[in-house]
Amino acid sequence: MAGKIPEAFIQQLLDRVDIVDVIQPRVSLKRAGREFQACCPFHNEKTPSFTVSPEKQFYHCFGCGAHGSAIGFLMQFDGLEFTDAVEELAAMVNMEVPREGHYQGPRREVRDLQDLMQQVTRWYRQQLHASDTARDYLQQRGLEQRIIDQYELGYAPEHWDGLLRAFPQQKALLQQGGLLSSNEQGRQYDRFRQRILFPIHNRRGQVIGFGGRLLQGDGPKYLNSPETPLFHKGRELYGLWQARKHEHTREQILVVEGYMDVLALVQAGFGNTVATLGTATTPEQVQLLFRASRHILYCFDGDRAGREAAWKALRNTLPQMQDGRQVSFLFLPQGEDPDSIVQSQGQAGFAQHIQQALPLERYLLEQLTAGKDLSRLDSRAQVAAEAEKLLETLPESHYRQLIGEQIEQQLRVSLHTRHAAPAAEHPRPKTSSLHTPLRTAIALLLDQPKLAFLQATRSIPIEADNPGTRLLSQLLQQITRQPEITTAQLLESWRDRPEGEHLNRLVASRLPKEHREEVFTDALRKIRLQQVSERIQQLQAQLQQSVPDNLALQQLQALLQEKRQLGEKNG
Ligand code: UTP
Ligand code: MN
Repeated sequence: MAGKIPEAFIQQLLDRVDIVDVIQPRVSLKRAGREFQACCPFHNEKTPSFTVSPEKQFYHCFGCGAHGSAIGFLMQFDGLEFTDAVEELAAMVNMEVPREGHYQGPRREVRDLQDLMQQVTRWYRQQLHASDTARDYLQQRGLEQRIIDQYELGYAPEHWDGLLRAFPQQKALLQQGGLLSSNEQGRQYDRFRQRILFPIHNRRGQVIGFGGRLLQGDGPKYLNSPETPLFHKGRELYGLWQARKHEHTREQILVVEGYMDVLALVQAGFGNTVATLGTATTPEQVQLLFRASRHILYCFDGDRAGREAAWKALRNTLPQMQDGRQVSFLFLPQGEDPDSIVQSQGQAGFAQHIQQALPLERYLLEQLTAGKDLSRLDSRAQVAAEAEKLLETLPESHYRQLIGEQIEQQLRVSLHTRHAAPAAEHPRPKTSSLHTPLRTAIALLLDQPKLAFLQATRSIPIEADNPGTRLLSQLLQQITRQPEITTAQLLESWRDRPEGEHLNRLVASRLPKEHREEVFTDALRKIRLQQVSERIQQLQAQLQQSVPDNLALQQLQALLQEKRQLGEKNG
């Protein structure tokens, strides 16, 4: 839907914005020399290892490895999507975000649809205000006015054409917004009738769809908006917009099944609660959840449907279980849901249930071994095979290693899956080291782009003969074209390219503090030496096989000389 934001604009934006102004209001920074420091907002710590560099326009936590530009910070801290983070920064410095192609902001129809959804929400709220039945119902369910207002609850009256009469000129848009249904004769009528409406907000607080609970009459108990240009059920979570503003959400987010469960919990003080929209938790939703919080607590009903929903959630969560993230599962007693528990046992009662939540690995093991006779070898083998399949979907991490070890202990088998500690290619922030000259060179260059202008850098011609050296020489060229480029700008310009992730890892690695220029030029020399040696071998092989070729001989001599010189300096 959205046109691509031109890369040049991102660079200008990062020129204009000061990352300190972005972070300061959210994290209290203390000056420390040329940088600023704070306790990291992304993990728990007592001594500050979070630093913000005005010079690099970059933040980096040495404890948990979080790092990035001002854009990255807004994405990570406020849980925004890339384009939303860019919009927000642009608004801070009064810039208009241009779009590539003919794109001018959201498309006209989309904007009209957004406006209409807003008006419809207001209309439904008025209807709630005007209906004794609807208000009585909410009161009988124990909802306070502040929650009704905060979540903008509304009511769709029993008429077939309530909306149609309220918005007579907008039939086509109502249809697009999923607010109408039609019968076999093609007659259109209000989709939601006699229902309490729960507006579903997007990341910016705009209403994009509704869930509706039947008060009386026929039809399913709950009805959701269909898929529309604005609303995609599997990519939204009910209450996420409100939960993002709650102080506990970063620490933990509760995921429940129902709209009413969200409202009851919020009212009881659990403002960090969201619900899936009547479907299994999707990978997109897991991604949203981890953007908002480091700890997901899935809370399911204790019935069969709840158990099934939990298992699906588990499967969709495993691939995103990086170290530092936490997931727990809470099962409520048969016949209860969070709403009923809060009603009967209050805030403290529900808090006690939370204490009983199972860590992901406990739930996983319990589930795999349930009903299995583990004294039998065949059962153990079967469980091991299933466990292995699941473990394979985990990213390589310490967590994966630990969970693998636990399964091995419990089943007394060795799993085939490689669940070894993360390999050196995926360094953890604390221990990451730079093994190769190429990585050293790229990491240093990202951290200190000015290294590209050293005399020695200019005099060592790196050939782009493989993906790594191609990346290095592209970076060198990029810095030459944009001599004032910061670390943040460099990284942002690679965000969408496959190399971007690699650069991201390198920039978080531990760099030498001293003699950086020497380390950098040494690394370049080693890279070049390698290139020269390989080329020499090729030429020698070629010359042995064919008649002497003058050009090849000359090249060989030049290379041998270059090699000698490089070797001397390297000595
Ligand atoms: P429940 O049937 O558990 O309802 O559905 P509830 O949340 O406890 O509702 P109350 O307390 O009776 O009002 C849980 C969720 O499943 C989806 C809805 O999202 C609902 O909130 N659902 C349920 C549907 O989409 N359609 C249905 O017909 C029922
Ligand atoms: Mn309920």
